[in-house]
Amino acid sequence: MQPPVILVTGVQGQLGCELVPLLSPFGRVVAADRTMLDLADPDAIVAVLRRLTPAMIVNAGAYTAVDRAESEPDLARAVNSRAPGILAEEGKRSGALLIHYSTDYVFDGKRTMPYPEDAPAAPQNVYGSSKLDGERAIAASGVRAIVLRTSWVYGLRGKNCLLTIRKLAAERDALASVADQIGVPHGSRALAAATARIVGAGLPALAERSGLYHLSCSGQASWYDFARAIVGDAPRPRIVPITSAEYPTPARRPAYGVLATSRFESTFGFALPDWRSSLADCIASPAEPSPA
Ligand SMILES: NC(=O)c1ccc[n+]([C@@H]2O[C@H](COP(=O)([O-])OP(=O)(O)OC[C@H]3O[C@@H](n4cnc5c(N)ncnc54)[C@H](OP(=O)(O)O)[C@@H]3O)[C@@H](O)[C@H]2O)c1
Repeated sequence: MQPPVILVTGVQGQLGCELVPLLSPFGRVVAADRTMLDLADPDAIVAVLRRLTPAMIVNAGAYTAVDRAESEPDLARAVNSRAPGILAEEGKRSGALLIHYSTDYVFDGKRTMPYPEDAPAAPQNVYGSSKLDGERAIAASGVRAIVLRTSWVYGLRGKNCLLTIRKLAAERDALASVADQIGVPHGSRALAAATARIVGAGLPALAERSGLYHLSCSGQASWYDFARAIVGDAPRPRIVPITSAEYPTPARRPAYGVLATSRFESTFGFALPDWRSSLADCIASPAEPSPA
């Protein structure tokens, strides 16, 4: 019997590049970058899915430039809202299971306690609103899907806080970091490993668990806390706390985005570690994932 085809999108991204090797024990992984599958092109999505007929679609592709999305809303919505809807409709049509990622930025950030999955969404920026519409398109399709909301993703490639701080640390004595936005940082490899673990339960078990889940490490941090943890005991750079008002950006960010994880933990039977130990694991792992 042929192994099931697992189509992974966004494989040049932080999460996608980690998913490819970790999902390969479970099927024939087809690693789609934007040259193979342009998520902004509906016809291309349909054509690729009908040609490959995957048993599972893992959509790690997304428009993630949060500030740029304010001036490119159409493209952000094409990739983050329309594309997941088409993946879902095609998955529904062929019987494929969809795994998709979303964000804490669907929330307004006004809470001070972790958000459960069913807390009212009220995105504060175009990116968050486009991701919320993607979730809704998936739910409306009726496809069997696991939608995993997470937050503050970093890794050993791409654009992220870890790599930025490491680069600037070599150039500067002091770095300013926002101290009044609270969230949870996530290593992309830890998120990919959690995805592989749930995929390991097998398609029928996953299909039975279709739904929306918060996938998050425990603990919480400000960007300032995160930057300090990255620098660790090094004498420089000094991390200087600043407010969001002192660092204006085109997109408004929620002040608080911690996600409650009890639904994920009781359904899948495991929890992610504290964000600090996940960061330590990431920093200790020198290896890049094998090329997608
Ligand atoms: N990054 C975060 O802090 C964060 C936080 C919460 C949730 N998430 C969610 O987690 C998931 C993974 O994010 P990530 O951090 O891995 O993002 P990422 O590093 O920005 O990767 C996204 C990937 O999507 C690809 N992509 C963008 N537009 C595309 C298009 N039109 N056609 C095909 N591919 C396209 C990009 O391709 P190129 O490499 O060619 O540009 C990139 O490889 C996403 O659903 C994201 O919304 C991320």
